[in-house]
Amino acid sequence: MARKVTANLYMTIDGRGEFPKYPGWDKPSGDRDDPDEFFRRMWTDRFDDVSTVVMGRRSFLGHHKTFALTARKPNDPKFMSDYCRFLDRVEKVCLSHRLKKTDWNNSRILKGDLSQIVAKLKREKGGNIILEGGPRLISEVLRRNLADDYWFLVMPVVYGRGPRYWFPTKSQTTLKLLSATHMPYGELVLHYAAYR
Ligand SMILES: NC(=O)c1ccc[n+]([C@@H]2O[C@H](COP(=O)([O-])OP(=O)(O)OC[C@H]3O[C@@H](n4cnc5c(N)ncnc54)[C@H](OP(=O)(O)O)[C@@H]3O)[C@@H](O)[C@H]2O)c1
Repeated sequence: MARKVTANLYMTIDGRGEFPKYPGWDKPSGDRDDPDEFFRRMWTDRFDDVSTVVMGRRSFLGHHKTFALTARKPNDPKFMSDYCRFLDRVEKVCLSHRLKKTDWNNSRILKGDLSQIVAKLKREKGGNIILEGGPRLISEVLRRNLADDYWFLVMPVVYGRGPRYWFPTKSQTTLKLLSATHMPYGELVLHYAAYR
């Protein structure tokens, strides 16, 4: 079966790739029994069948620093440890012209035309593929409509700064809405498929 390519977009209402504070940001599921629900939904629930995670250089370096297993602290929330274990397990692909090597386990560096890189990864053996950021890489993915589906996780904040997802483009990308849900503190979880 072909490997599915999914792009994840974590953003504020004004399309900035940041994780700001807002009421409930640190207790995402309100009074529910499972305080990790929102983050699990954002980061780990959908990842069982994923074996490759692709990131732009900036995000790759940021993730290595923040989410390496060696960076974990005893009082980290469970979703964080789960996400770190997931990242440790999968193959990580860093896109970069500048970076020549990395000491993050199970990682490789690729460069070149993004459509060709995605096509090459799809031809390789493995589970599904996630394009995990950052905004620059993902806006290129959207502009070229390279993913099979897209998860938008929108936080209820107009932030006004931070890395942008949206730039002027010459053509539009139209997506098919598969589901739209909202979380207790106003976060939207929007799932779209590409029209093929
Ligand atoms: N909200 C989110 O989803 C999210 C996720 C991750 C990160 N972030 C934040 O966003 C920021 C980083 O994101 P960003 O958008 O600035 O950068 P990014 O997308 O993570 O990285 C951009 C870099 O990726 C490399 N690249 C992209 N396409 C390539 C290709 N086809 N071939 C070779 N290299 C390629 C280039 O690196 P070279 O210059 O080496 O060629 C480019 O400068 C950080 O502040 C981070 O905290 C947000």
